[in-house]
Amino acid sequence: MTPPNSVESQEVRKKTPLDFIFGKVIGEGSFSTVYLAKDIQTNKEFAIKVLEKIHVIREKKTEYVMREKEVLRILGNSSQYFVHLYSTFQDIERLYFVLTYAKNGELLKYINLHSKFNLECTGYYTAELVLALEYLHSKKIVHRDLKPENILFDHNFHILITDFGSAKIENNETNQTVTNGDSSSSSGELRRRRHSFVGTAQFVSPEMLQESKSSYSSDLWALGCIVYQMASGQMPFVGGSEYLIFQKILALEYNFPTCFDSKLKDFIEKLLVLDPEMRLGATDEIRYTSIRGHDFFVGTNWDDLGPPPKLS
Ligand code: ADE
Repeated sequence: MTPPNSVESQEVRKKTPLDFIFGKVIGEGSFSTVYLAKDIQTNKEFAIKVLEKIHVIREKKTEYVMREKEVLRILGNSSQYFVHLYSTFQDIERLYFVLTYAKNGELLKYINLHSKFNLECTGYYTAELVLALEYLHSKKIVHRDLKPENILFDHNFHILITDFGSAKIENNETNQTVTNGDSSSSSGELRRRRHSFVGTAQFVSPEMLQESKSSYSSDLWALGCIVYQMASGQMPFVGGSEYLIFQKILALEYNFPTCFDSKLKDFIEKLLVLDPEMRLGATDEIRYTSIRGHDFFVGTNWDDLGPPPKLS
């Protein structure tokens, strides 16, 4: 028997909902709710994602939940650019994921607040996203749902990427995954999207739409869309319906606002390329040397980006 207050019992004991004071709702997904919560013992704040088991099973989302947990486990806490999974537990009705609390919320909020970002901010956060993708892809994970709602800011306004429910773990050396018939795949993902899409279709890559294929390069497409949005305040592909948005994506039908920075324009044009293998970085032996080497990043110290510039 371990005495109740011994170091051992404290280290191994699973947390329970009673270890936290649950506060306000800080995020809502189609089958989860994220609460701000405080650890009673340490007073530390966390974001706790709560999933109703019945809802997960009824909606056939079990594998998405398991995948998210597995991806967060693989990511660990060795990159500063991802939310960290501290613990998981469950009660009869619910599953709980204890995550890093991103105090400053979604990137989207700040793009909208400032209408758009200036070149310095756009460059800085693009560089953070590139470093994040280098790490993510080195761990053989494709996010597949990168968008400004899934990019959060920590207390110091560094990015924290979240929401790995759509992620794919690549398990072989081939860079591209054909996913027909596999419900964990992007074709399953796309079916899911077409039927129950509540968020935004604007960041889906053409290969996911057309061939049900996803690869690391699908995240590079999303990066192009996000950078465009930071710099212009608008998404590149917009339309009155998902169908119209998909049509525009497949036709590569988008325009730059007048007076758009020419180096940034060139960078985005090299990411928003229909053929996934032709995107900047897609064939890099060492990720992502060709992105780092683009003219837009002249003057960027990739070993130390320094503190974030004041948002404007
Ligand atoms: N909304 C969803 N997840 C969150 C998190 N980890 N921190 C803050 N807000 C969130």
